[in-house]
Amino acid sequence: MKKAWWKESVVYQIYPRSFMDSNGDGIGDIQGIISRLDYLKKLGIDVVWLSPVYKSPNDDNGYDISDYRDIMDEFGTMQDWEHMLEEMHKRGIKLVMDLVVNHTSDEHPWFVESRKSKGSPYRDYYIWRPGVDGKEPTDWTASFGGSSWQYDNATGEYYLHMFSKKQPDLNWENPSVRREIYDMIRFWLDKGVDGFRMDVINMISKKEFLSSYEDFKNGNIHNKEYHPNGERVHDFLQEMNREVLSAYDILTVGECPGVTPEQARLYTAEERHELNMVFQFEHMSLDKQPGKRKWDLKPLDLHDLKENLTKWQKSLGEQGWNSLYWNNHDQPRIVSRFGNDKEYRTESAKMLATLLHMMQGTPYIYQGEEIGMTNVRFETIEEYKDIETSNIYRDRVDKQGLNPKEVMESIYAKSRDNGRTPMQWTSGPHAGFTTGTPWIRANPNYKEINVARALEDANSVFYHYKKLIELRKRHEIIVYGSYDLILEDHDSIFAYTRKLGKEELLVLNNFYQQETVFTLPPDIQFHSKELLISNYTVDVNQDIKEFLLRPYESRVYKLSR
Ligand code: NOJ
Repeated sequence: MKKAWWKESVVYQIYPRSFMDSNGDGIGDIQGIISRLDYLKKLGIDVVWLSPVYKSPNDDNGYDISDYRDIMDEFGTMQDWEHMLEEMHKRGIKLVMDLVVNHTSDEHPWFVESRKSKGSPYRDYYIWRPGVDGKEPTDWTASFGGSSWQYDNATGEYYLHMFSKKQPDLNWENPSVRREIYDMIRFWLDKGVDGFRMDVINMISKKEFLSSYEDFKNGNIHNKEYHPNGERVHDFLQEMNREVLSAYDILTVGECPGVTPEQARLYTAEERHELNMVFQFEHMSLDKQPGKRKWDLKPLDLHDLKENLTKWQKSLGEQGWNSLYWNNHDQPRIVSRFGNDKEYRTESAKMLATLLHMMQGTPYIYQGEEIGMTNVRFETIEEYKDIETSNIYRDRVDKQGLNPKEVMESIYAKSRDNGRTPMQWTSGPHAGFTTGTPWIRANPNYKEINVARALEDANSVFYHYKKLIELRKRHEIIVYGSYDLILEDHDSIFAYTRKLGKEELLVLNNFYQQETVFTLPPDIQFHSKELLISNYTVDVNQDIKEFLLRPYESRVYKLSR
């Protein structure tokens, strides 16, 4: 397998609004990030992925960009940003920026011009259609609810928006749009950034989607679902690669909702020159009812998780590359989701970390995950700030008449705000995030769960993550070894091996609170073993042919054959 720095790295995601506020306005900012870089250095991460910091009216917290080449006022200035990059590089930390080019803000000058007249040179930068019989052009729905078409008075036509109506979709079929975007990417690369995380990049090609509009007009099609991975997406990415990315040694990761392993291979196989890796979502939808939305809850079945992650490990084992994540700014906290955020918070957070970080791929840590931050339960819907969360509440309670208590339970489990409450630095007011009033309330458990406390406790989740990162640097097998699931049918153990040359890693995780017996499969032979990491005290000389795994116990052995 070809070696690459981005295969050997661990990435840390910062959601700037919630990370650290330096000026007391209640909103995280760039100076705040700079003030915490030594903390990240201590953790040992190699790369920061920074969620959007560009100019934005914040309808979707920065994922609606009104100027791609400037910094949001609340976050600071371009000078602050340049200083941050310099401070990161000084510490050997690379910076990956978020690239949001499926859509802009409706306040972006391109859209402001586009909506003025049908003859505007920017008209074709976006996707406009006349209504059908006085209604929306089609019945397609947007991700945040409602129609994906918005009527615009100025010209009497509708524009397409797959997210909020303040996020009009760009028309990638237009070569001028693509050229402008490539220029903008070059602008940031020339400033020294080390890569991009590309927002919903598999949605940029809409050719077939839009041709079904023609059928719809003729009354033939009923297609509410938007289909990603459109016909031209690979052409566009290869062009982007040829025109700009290939000239730089960078990390690229494409966010690809709905992507299958076969499609992911097309995006990431080296010889295709598109992306290094993608974010897939299959393992994040195992706790929802099939065919329904994430709010329609269902308990996770461990067998499904094993099968799914194994499928991804195997499919991208030889060709392409996996990204490994449990959390990001759109997901609930993993310790509350798949672990136990009460009596076994520390144990289960460590187990989940080990389970993920020992797999093949580039691991991503989302701010706060490294101290085992949990989901939040705000009493009223008004305390939630996320547009998706407010919309689903209105839709289910006000429009569909569902029981508000039940809807709140779904929000407690799945709201994106679970991941967006302020980073918990100390036990002081607002978790030490701000001296002012935070834009969203801190999780009240910050008095117990915070960075200051984690740093003082040698057994904290923090030091477990730090050790996982160190191990990756010391043992090539963690990066490049091949993966095999073992104990496939076991109901509570998620165990696998990694192999490279004469070495083998044995990764054992009890996924539940009940103790369970581990029995070594007879085909695993070795003459010596070394315990690399565990979340309980373990007698390193213990015979591992058969033993009891404690609640959420996790161990990694390195075996020599
Ligand atoms: C995916 C981002 O992660 C999410 O936060 C955002 O709302 C949508 N894309 C739209 O940009």
